Amino acid sequence: MTAPSLTKSNVESAYARWAPIYDTVFTLTLRPGRVAAAQAINRLGGRVIDVGVGTGLELPMFGPQVQVTGIDLSEPMLRVAQKRVEERKLTNVEGLLVMDAMKLAFPDASFDAAVAPYVLTVVPEPERTLDEMARVVKPGGEIILVNHVGAERGPLALIEAWLGKRSEALGWRPQFPWSILGDWIARRPDIELVERRALAPLGLFTLVRLKRH
Ligand SMILES: C[S@@+](CC[C@H](N)C(=O)[O-])C[C@H]1O[C@@H](n2cnc3c(N)ncnc32)[C@H](O)[C@@H]1O
Repeated sequence: MTAPSLTKSNVESAYARWAPIYDTVFTLTLRPGRVAAAQAINRLGGRVIDVGVGTGLELPMFGPQVQVTGIDLSEPMLRVAQKRVEERKLTNVEGLLVMDAMKLAFPDASFDAAVAPYVLTVVPEPERTLDEMARVVKPGGEIILVNHVGAERGPLALIEAWLGKRSEALGWRPQFPWSILGDWIARRPDIELVERRALAPLGLFTLVRLKRH
């Protein structure tokens, strides 16, 4: 189940527009999810791929026991991330690369974990992105996601349906039912759901931890 209106090129143009103002709008509003994702990653340590790293707001939250490679489709977003890495002297960031999350240029089992805060609602094909994250994570490793899971009914569901018609311009998909993740997990005998936790503010976002066997 994917939104045909979100393509790679409209994600690229949407994030070229977001890049100069992204940190002003999203540093605080989306902080709780980044903190939760970074805590989960810091407990694991090792080599980590940050998929859809954007402007790198989560990068300073990773401890020295984590060596991070960030990838993103949007060069303008990555330029902001690179500046942050230099200014904050984040020596545990091994690289920031322009790359498509749906076609990662890494061999199988390259990382101890993958993290993707606020990304699955944005990529054109979330299932392909999940397949790629599972492929590059070693058996025994984890995939940590933070995502808005869509309201199923009530006023929020109506607002999300209205926003859904504008996902091309926004660069994200406001409607993201749990079934996208649930069905993917059900198809993958090597993937186990280890945690699903609603986060502040107001439970709008959910932390998901998946273990790859
Ligand atoms: C909402 S931002 C999240 C950025 C960051 N993780 C954060 O917490 O602020 C989503 C990011 O996903 C990136 N993205 C969307 N589709 C992608 C794809 N197919 N491959 C790689 N990155 C993608 C966008 O360019 C954008 O930087």
